[in-house]
Amino acid sequence: MDNRSYQVMRTEFAPLNGVRTTGRRHAAYELFAGSARRLLINAGVFFWAVLAIASLAACDTADEAALDTPAAAPLSIPALLEPAFDGAGVAHYELKIGESRHDYGQTALTDTFSYNGMSVLGPTLRLRTGDSVVISVTNELDEVTTTHWHGADVPAEDDGGPHSLIQPGTTWIADFDVIQPAATLWYHPHVHGSTAEQVYRGAAGLIIIEDDNPAAATLPATYGVDDIPVIIQDKDFTGDGQLDFAIDEGDNGKLYTTLTVNGTINPFVDVPEGLVRLRLLNGSQARIYHLSVEGAGMTMIASDGGYLASPVALEQLVLAPGDRAEIVVNVGMESAALVDSRLGRVLELRPNGSASGTGSLPDKLATIKRISASEITVDRRFDMDDERNFWEFGPRWAINGAQFDMSRIDFRVQLGDTERWTLSGDDGQHVFHPHQIQFQILSINGEPPPPEESGWEDTVLVNDERKVVIVARFNTFAAEDIPYMFHCHILDHEDLGMMGQFLVIDDE
Ligand code: C2O
Ligand code: CU
Ligand code: CU
Repeated sequence: MDNRSYQVMRTEFAPLNGVRTTGRRHAAYELFAGSARRLLINAGVFFWAVLAIASLAACDTADEAALDTPAAAPLSIPALLEPAFDGAGVAHYELKIGESRHDYGQTALTDTFSYNGMSVLGPTLRLRTGDSVVISVTNELDEVTTTHWHGADVPAEDDGGPHSLIQPGTTWIADFDVIQPAATLWYHPHVHGSTAEQVYRGAAGLIIIEDDNPAAATLPATYGVDDIPVIIQDKDFTGDGQLDFAIDEGDNGKLYTTLTVNGTINPFVDVPEGLVRLRLLNGSQARIYHLSVEGAGMTMIASDGGYLASPVALEQLVLAPGDRAEIVVNVGMESAALVDSRLGRVLELRPNGSASGTGSLPDKLATIKRISASEITVDRRFDMDDERNFWEFGPRWAINGAQFDMSRIDFRVQLGDTERWTLSGDDGQHVFHPHQIQFQILSINGEPPPPEESGWEDTVLVNDERKVVIVARFNTFAAEDIPYMFHCHILDHEDLGMMGQFLVIDDE
């Protein structure tokens, strides 16, 4: 353990060459200690592992929607929350989080969490680049919450992390300027220890940032008509129709077996023929989706932080928890379907006979300048691991050996610096997500990223077969005392301690 904290410190202050050396030594140490430790643990939990795998395999296919049976219900589209502008041109939004009930077609109405009285989830916030916004969030729950703007580049005090608690009956106000380009972001609670449950119960919503990028002017953009929000979450229900929630301490987090899109089970959506945009959000606790489109082609146009440089035709799209992707589907005269390789049909796209106004995709969407290596002044490593010792039966999820501690700042970033972060993981699936920044992926297992991962990202899948190096500029906001979070977006892991915090400081 001491060895590890020493490594973390070294990473912060050592020159580049020093970092590389200690990094290598660290890796060798980890390999030795890790494999010895794991051998012992593995023997101990072998029986349970077999049991768990068996039950997973048994239930994971249970609710697969057969592709040849029709979709059952029209997709619900979250309301669009447009701003109210004051005399100074500031855009005001009001959110109220509270308890609600939703009809999932179970034996009874299901108790949920939601924003603004919706039956589940929250309205879609439409923001514009360049606007000054004020968002008030009132907590009408019986428990403490926060609301975090995932993917937004905002000052730490407006970020809605675990330090910005909203007690029941009180209101928290975030105000910031929208300084980033068009993108699909999302908002969700971030109270340490209850993030997974509050999100699972339905507290989450989309944020659409619009700008006047001329390249995007011909893309489908009529909300709910040819520009469809697709919030994918898996759920389980109890016999009396209530949400069955659990934290799974294991490698993959809790995987539920019933797919919901915007709260609808087995949905279809009526769309025009022609280009239809889907704004995909994986709002699930832990499940990673492997998505494809049957009956039409799929072209990805945007990643977490906004448009890709050019549209990318894709066979399959991997969407980890917290990830967004915008895709365009060219719908013909027959239905097409968004399909997950594991759980089957996610959403049927049913042509309704009308024609969409748009026929072709632009060749170029945005200019994405690669951050050059010469800009990089600091290297850091993030190992996402189970840090349990021999005597511990359950995992201890941690980053660089340390579990989340609200009173500990893990590192400080100098405002204006460009940093390269090497992300590695072991023991299962991890999804690295730092607040504030959009980063670029430099490499995955030493190779340059594929085109669909060559845009701006804020959430990236990491595991023992996927080592990812990212680069980011910290050139927007600094604060002496309020940290930003970085964590695993497998919410089970996050709530169990796989999170840390950094300050961006202006020392110059
Ligand atoms: Cu989706 Cu820390 O956030
Ligand atoms: Cu976030
Ligand atoms: Cu994880």
